[in-house]
Amino acid sequence: MKNLGILLSGRGSNFEAIARNVAAGKIADARIAVVISNKPDAGGLEIAKRMGLEAVVISSKGKPREEHDREMVAALQQHKVDLICLAGYMRLLSPWFVQQFPRRILNIHPSLLPAFPGLEAQEQAFAYGVKVTGCTVHFVDEELDHGAIIVQKTVPVLDTDDEHTLAARILEQEHVAYSEAINIILQGKCAIVGRRLVTNVTSG
Ligand code: GAR
Repeated sequence: MKNLGILLSGRGSNFEAIARNVAAGKIADARIAVVISNKPDAGGLEIAKRMGLEAVVISSKGKPREEHDREMVAALQQHKVDLICLAGYMRLLSPWFVQQFPRRILNIHPSLLPAFPGLEAQEQAFAYGVKVTGCTVHFVDEELDHGAIIVQKTVPVLDTDDEHTLAARILEQEHVAYSEAINIILQGKCAIVGRRLVTNVTSG
């Protein structure tokens, strides 16, 4: 049984999709050990409580990054977390934090990386005029929105779209992509070659 730790800052819809899949047995041999928010008013905290999951606030307000990260890492270790899923956690992790959990931190980003990293990726893609965008689940490394890619889903940009309708269709794909990526990592049937994640590898 693997312990998942969810970090979030807001609404928590990606977390909820993961939690539902865990509860339904669609993410096998895993449990959500803790949900941590750096914002006391994050909607995701309410979802966690409603689902009977451990929900913790570690406020980042006014704290130096290192001090906040030390508290976060302590809480994750205390809950014996094996895999950390950033689900709308809108705060950069320090290199030290990343080094505590090598290849054990995942993030979801609402664009086809490496296009449109950073904030408001859906709006960036819409304004740029791309015809296809999507979402990416990737490992977290020490650079922003940069680690090896695990799953990507494409979403066409329609002539009738605005930023909101586009973001909503991307979000639907995010909810599918994240659990798929968690399953790939937990099943361990993959290797990273350069930057490329290759699945279904056989040893020997
Ligand atoms: C999601 O769209 C996620 O991809 C994005 O924040 C949203 C959180 O929604 N994350 C980033 O932009 C990270 N750079 P949620 O709280 O409903 O899961």
